[in-house]
Amino acid sequence: MQKMPTPLREQLAEFSASQQVPFFVYDLDGLSKHIASLASDEIKLWFAVKANPLSRVIQTLDKQGMNFDVASTGELEQVLAQGIGSDRILNTGPAKSRQQLSHFLQRGVNTFVVESVNQLALLNELSQSHNKRPQVLLRVQLRFEQGDDNPLGGNSLTPFGLGAQEWSEICLADYPEVDVVGLHIFQWGNMLDADKLISLWQAMIAPLTALAQALDFELKVLDLGGGLGIPYHESEQQLLWPYLAGALSEIKRQAKVNELWLELGRFAVGEYGYYVSEVIDRKTNYEQELLVLQGGINHLLRPAITDQPFPVSLLRDSAESAQSFHIHGPLCTSLDKLGELPLPKDVSVGDQLVFAQCGAYGFTEAMPFFLCHELPAEVVFSQGRFEVVRQAQPASSYLC
Ligand SMILES: Cc1ncc(COP(=O)(O)O)c(C=O)c1O
Repeated sequence: MQKMPTPLREQLAEFSASQQVPFFVYDLDGLSKHIASLASDEIKLWFAVKANPLSRVIQTLDKQGMNFDVASTGELEQVLAQGIGSDRILNTGPAKSRQQLSHFLQRGVNTFVVESVNQLALLNELSQSHNKRPQVLLRVQLRFEQGDDNPLGGNSLTPFGLGAQEWSEICLADYPEVDVVGLHIFQWGNMLDADKLISLWQAMIAPLTALAQALDFELKVLDLGGGLGIPYHESEQQLLWPYLAGALSEIKRQAKVNELWLELGRFAVGEYGYYVSEVIDRKTNYEQELLVLQGGINHLLRPAITDQPFPVSLLRDSAESAQSFHIHGPLCTSLDKLGELPLPKDVSVGDQLVFAQCGAYGFTEAMPFFLCHELPAEVVFSQGRFEVVRQAQPASSYLC
């Protein structure tokens, strides 16, 4: 697992002493270098904005030439507000209302991943009335022998796209106002086993090319979505991008497509965010050590959904050996637990803890309103300096 860069580590304790906690901090210098290292002539990269829609994150990715996958009007407007052209935006998502699709067409978006026959018919109808001919990818759900369950569906039934059989029953000539150029598929999230990921991708080629043939269109674009994981535990290995990129080039050749696309969320930004929270209480109960923090799943929901904690460390130095602590947040539910994790024995009330790997699915995935606590601040670390881009907000800012 990647370590927090030394300049950030050294300055964070001092910054955090002057800053109201909890807050998220994003290392934009590290993020920028990481995205630059992913550039490839063979693969077109889109950023799945749902992973982190912060303006400064989007601007950083924009500077590195990334394109943007948006799944709501809110995400679309946030990307456009950063000065990004609509030709670098694509729209995914299972719920595309008439109002939303009209808005996207009006705003100049020309690439849509279509997830149902109704969506296709609606987009066809609206394209005619807007005098547009957008390019479309049909989202496909396949079943695999080696599959298992996963938040993105894995082998189970989900609202994301349709099976190859279901798609093969349509006639593309019925949708002349859209240009069907490709297929989209994405069923497994947070994969860390590169060979398994590659073998899943490879297994998709035959059924997808067969579907394009059955529908009688030229498969120009294959979009494999996201799903590239990051380690949340030190025993887990990082994915090696050059290895994956090499396999993807081969898949592109085998599928005979002009363009291979990925929509990266977690793998793009996950390792470049941290969440800092303060210890409000420490107690021993039934011979177990418990910490209660100022912020928990109201700011970082993922551990409650996946039962997988974010790695944690004590912000100040300590020479004490580590022991296990049950780490809870402030909500009145036992679900509000950030994990059972090792920390130095002398951790005490007033100490600050830093959770790593929080750059994706953090601030906007949480449930911040329950119990009316504060919304956390968001801070960026750029060119060696901290900048608060959003101050913490009291409950009065959202209650009425
Ligand atoms: C359509 C789509 N593309 C891309 C992503 C990003 O996935 P990941 O964070 O696994 O890269 C998601 C995440 O849910 C998604 O729904």
